[in-house]
Amino acid sequence: EKGGYDHFMMKEIYEQPRSIRDCMRGRIYPQKGLVQLGGIKDYADKLKNIDRIIIVACGTSWHAGLVGEYLIEEYARVPVEVEYASEFRYRNPIITDKDLVIAISQSGETADTMAAIELAKERGATIFGICNVVGASIPRLTHAGVYTHAGPEIGVASTKAFTAQVTILTLIAFYVAQQRGTITEAKLVEYLTELDSIPALVEQTLKANEQIKIIAERFKDSANCLFLGRGSSFPVALEGALKLKEISYIHAEGYPAAEMKHGPIALIDADMPVVFIATQNSSYEKVISNIQEVKARGGHVIAIVSEGDTTVKDMAEYVVEIPQTAEAFVPLLATIPLQLLAYHIAVMRGCNVDQPRNLAKSVTVE
Ligand code: M6R
Repeated sequence: EKGGYDHFMMKEIYEQPRSIRDCMRGRIYPQKGLVQLGGIKDYADKLKNIDRIIIVACGTSWHAGLVGEYLIEEYARVPVEVEYASEFRYRNPIITDKDLVIAISQSGETADTMAAIELAKERGATIFGICNVVGASIPRLTHAGVYTHAGPEIGVASTKAFTAQVTILTLIAFYVAQQRGTITEAKLVEYLTELDSIPALVEQTLKANEQIKIIAERFKDSANCLFLGRGSSFPVALEGALKLKEISYIHAEGYPAAEMKHGPIALIDADMPVVFIATQNSSYEKVISNIQEVKARGGHVIAIVSEGDTTVKDMAEYVVEIPQTAEAFVPLLATIPLQLLAYHIAVMRGCNVDQPRNLAKSVTVE
């Protein structure tokens, strides 16, 4: 049942080339520069007239929402807010019939997310769902939606569901852009062609597993760990920290790299591993100066870099290379080494990775 792996989590990490492919199947036509999302096609016209998108979710699904915010604002030019469902539901939020609410949930049963949907629905918003479990409660509560088709996720720590959610949000960003005319067909051909190659690039990224084991061995006894990234790599940092804390019980925090100097930098000493997502994109130079700040204080730098990078390689104690890709798709690759790092550290510490203490796979109470 675990397909030859020791744990479901590892099986599910390795399934990602397939699950991301399944997510895109029948939905992208790279040569035509076309995205088709059958589940929301009845709302294609509505998308031309929305004022705002509000994403509601919890935990890892909320992190996926934050990646979605970058992508939707960049390509579809619609303002996006990402809300913890548990906060949104009790805040008397301002919602109109020109709002689109996107609820993200692997299980489709999360109580807070369901309550947020009900509230937004009462106030006249259109509600889309992004769920993994077919026929769950959330898909039944929403007006329309897109399934992630990642297959059953057994490990309590979400892995393949996260990358599937990010993939769907990428497709939704392009779909809304298509409806609103904020992207050209030529650009879509370019992006969709690149997106089509992501499953193969994830496969390539997984080859870093042995190297990540060495990093895990070095830092498995740490008491704390920081994860830093900028732009759409900031939610990846949050997700890396959540994975590590929930399965290894090491205290971990994710921050936007530039926020470090507003507080967390005080924590850095010779016992602090700091994981940077330092790929070659628009914030590369700025992340490099953040790396220097950590080094100057004796922190240990582990960096996720673009293949062929030499600058960060000279500065960091450990680097993990991921294939070059468009900035929009970096989260789909950069997440993989962080999942593996959390997994190996947890196994080395003797933790129950598939069933961490105090956690349930679906949180059906508030
Ligand atoms: O089923 P959902 O996506 O609604 O679940 C939301 C969170 O409970 C979930 O992502 C949780 O944070 C995971 N344990 C993270 O790995």
